[in-house]
Amino acid sequence: MGAVWRATDELLNRTVAVKELLIAAAPPTAAGVDALEESRQRILREGRIGARLQHAHVISMFDVVVYEDRPWLVMEYLPSRSLAQLLGEKGPLPQREVADIGRQVADGLAAAHVAGVVHRDVKPGNVLIAEDGLVKLTDFGVSRAVDDVQLTRTGLIAGTPAFLSPEVARGEDPAAASDVFALGATLYAAVEGVPPFGLDDNAYALLHKVATGEVRPPEQTGPVMDVIMWLLARDPEDRPSATQARDALAAAASGRDPGGSATAATAVLGARATDPPPTRPTVRPVAAPPPRAAAPTPSATCCSSCCWRCSRRVRASSRPC
Ligand SMILES: Nc1ncnc2c1ncn2[C@@H]1O[C@H](COP(=O)(O)OP(=O)(O)OP(=O)(O)O)[C@@H](O)[C@H]1O
Ligand SMILES: [Mg+2]
Repeated sequence: MGAVWRATDELLNRTVAVKELLIAAAPPTAAGVDALEESRQRILREGRIGARLQHAHVISMFDVVVYEDRPWLVMEYLPSRSLAQLLGEKGPLPQREVADIGRQVADGLAAAHVAGVVHRDVKPGNVLIAEDGLVKLTDFGVSRAVDDVQLTRTGLIAGTPAFLSPEVARGEDPAAASDVFALGATLYAAVEGVPPFGLDDNAYALLHKVATGEVRPPEQTGPVMDVIMWLLARDPEDRPSATQARDALAAAASGRDPGGSATAATAVLGARATDPPPTRPTVRPVAAPPPRAAAPTPSATCCSSCCWRCSRRVRASSRPC
């Protein structure tokens, strides 16, 4: 989608990250020029929505400018590696380390969703991890805007659909629950080494698999994987909200029962394992938050074969309530 540069804001004298967005050239016709202008406007609009979000686990967008006919994003610079880079170097990560990464991303998503902003492209390449364990989510809204433009213009799918939710793969509009699924897919890939629907060079074949919602059964088991599978529920209404995901991942990361009862509490990547709960970000909502169905709550009368999350789903790997 573009190249990211480390740059200096000479006015404020601070280091920033600058992302040059590469969008497909328009055909040299009046309609082509109109389409290019429309896509530029759309990217600027999405960028400005992202610029309103201020949160400890979200890369701040400082500005979106058009220079030499191309949109450029000016963002907070975080000395870091992306989760995609980390997985490329180290391979799959320990489950509790993944849970700690996940709870930070979920915290950023929770704040965004409260403000009515959907990320639309949560994936390992957009999760930045600093040396001290601080995690921030980047590319809010913008990458999918660019991809949609490419898709409309060229008829080709830009990027991989490996982290899309089934409903988005079937053509529905992305919503908060699809961000939660994409976070689950990202964490699943971090634990298992492959995304939940596997990998396929043929983007259309992969898209077809994603649309079925049939996740490859994980080889790793345990409380962290249980939470990840909750995020990957096929039906958006069966998934946790980002806030519930954050709390369950935080519990799993610190060795507590994600269902509630505390046991050992050893923090992984501990520096920020006890972040304060998310505060409402300093943003003006651009749209009403998407309505959420009532989240599943542990049943008060569940039997020993119920899973710890709710009485509706019983899975062999779930622990009894
Ligand atoms: N704000 C930032 N601060 C520091 N490094 C960043 C920042 N944003 C991105 N990067 C680095 O630049 C790399 C490339 O980012 P980029 O967003 O172009 O790639 P991607 O997310 O893998 O793909 P896509 O083009 O689909 O977004 C990231 O992997 C990350 O290491
Ligand atoms: Mg990116």
